[in-house]
Amino acid sequence: MSQEITFQVQPGGSLRGEIRVPGDKSMSHRSIMLGSIAEGVTHVRGFLNAEDAMSTLEAFRAMGVIIEGPVNGEVTIHGVGKHGLKAPEKPLNLGNSGTSMRLLSGLLAGQAFDCTLTGDKSLESRPMRRVTGPLAEMGAVIETQDNGTAPLHIKGQAGKLKGMHYDMPIASAQVKSCLLLAGMYAEGETSVTEPAPTRDHTERMLNGFGYPVVREGSTARIDSKGKLTATEIDVPSDISSTAFFLVGASIAPDSDVTLKHVGINPTRTGVIDILRLMGANIEVLNEREVGGEPVADLRVRSAQLKGINIPEELVPLAIDEFPVLFVAAACAEGQTVLTGAKELRVKESDRIQVMADGLQILGVDAQPTEDGMIIQGGGNIGGGEVDSHGDHRIAMSFSIAGLRANAPITIKDCANVNTSFKDVPALTTQLRLKLSML
Ligand code: S3P
Repeated sequence: MSQEITFQVQPGGSLRGEIRVPGDKSMSHRSIMLGSIAEGVTHVRGFLNAEDAMSTLEAFRAMGVIIEGPVNGEVTIHGVGKHGLKAPEKPLNLGNSGTSMRLLSGLLAGQAFDCTLTGDKSLESRPMRRVTGPLAEMGAVIETQDNGTAPLHIKGQAGKLKGMHYDMPIASAQVKSCLLLAGMYAEGETSVTEPAPTRDHTERMLNGFGYPVVREGSTARIDSKGKLTATEIDVPSDISSTAFFLVGASIAPDSDVTLKHVGINPTRTGVIDILRLMGANIEVLNEREVGGEPVADLRVRSAQLKGINIPEELVPLAIDEFPVLFVAAACAEGQTVLTGAKELRVKESDRIQVMADGLQILGVDAQPTEDGMIIQGGGNIGGGEVDSHGDHRIAMSFSIAGLRANAPITIKDCANVNTSFKDVPALTTQLRLKLSML
């Protein structure tokens, strides 16, 4: 985190306009990882030039890959092939990015060199045994701290990993992707079964690079025989960043916003389904497919939302959007209940506790539970000072809450918004959100 940033949001207002929010973070990470180990030169457009994806980009530069850009979202990656990465001279610092750390541990477990993965305070407190455990069963040698956290010391096991089948106990795209990437370097077949559908960008992008991944029901299979051929990647807008404006335009009176070129991969659209169940007015326009991923423009207008019991099967499909969905629930008529979302406790912050604390400060009846939250909607949102705990999605969610607040909201510790957003001031001005940074 570079410097302390506080957001100050003036109450009220409506959101209007047409914008393209920054590129999808999950796809941006994967474009660098796969482009780097492909043969040939990969061009990426729409790359998210924000801190998390840049952590991945810098890690691959440190492993000898020549990467040009990003300039206006364009990146050119001179792939070194599956076995062309070089030992980094220093530990790879992955900042705040869980995706970088978990996917890289799989990709680097079977290399011909050792390396160390570090991160910021938040990342170094997040659970890593969910990846190092199954990787060890494949023959990986990765040392964690005593409580299973980073720094991770990886002893490269080139030629020694063995494929295996893994039944994931939690629905995690990061764990699935980690094991598929390790499987590209393992003898025999590696297969992963997920307990519920999770984002499938790794599988889709591997196929885009010509690397076979077989999908059978809830199981994905890979082996080490394939090779990656450089390709063109067009990264759409991140539906997780779009979600703030889907909620903002729904809760603020007289709003009408069109969000252009948004990735609507069905493993990511839980937020649209949940908001629609709550009565939101969201139109999906100009549906098309770009580079193997579905894309559309989303038009959203103000609506009176109502409280619901959020279906548990939608939880993994909206996992990053709950902070802002809690704000939607606070503005809805009646009670909203979330269950089955314990994973929220181990994200960049404990998103159940931190959101409940902040909403309570703003006068909302929000009761945290072990695996979710119970929110009584309909009440007014008040003003006050809340703490984002350095979590980018919490900072953005309370900024959106300002649209329905009756007094200013001050949000502390917002510098990490830069991990997933570029140019928040420009975006918010364009949409008329009354936000200033101190
Ligand atoms: C991600 C997967 C999700 C998500 C994270 C990005 C990815 O994590 O929360 O922001 O790019 O694979 P889990 O798979 O751990 O739920």
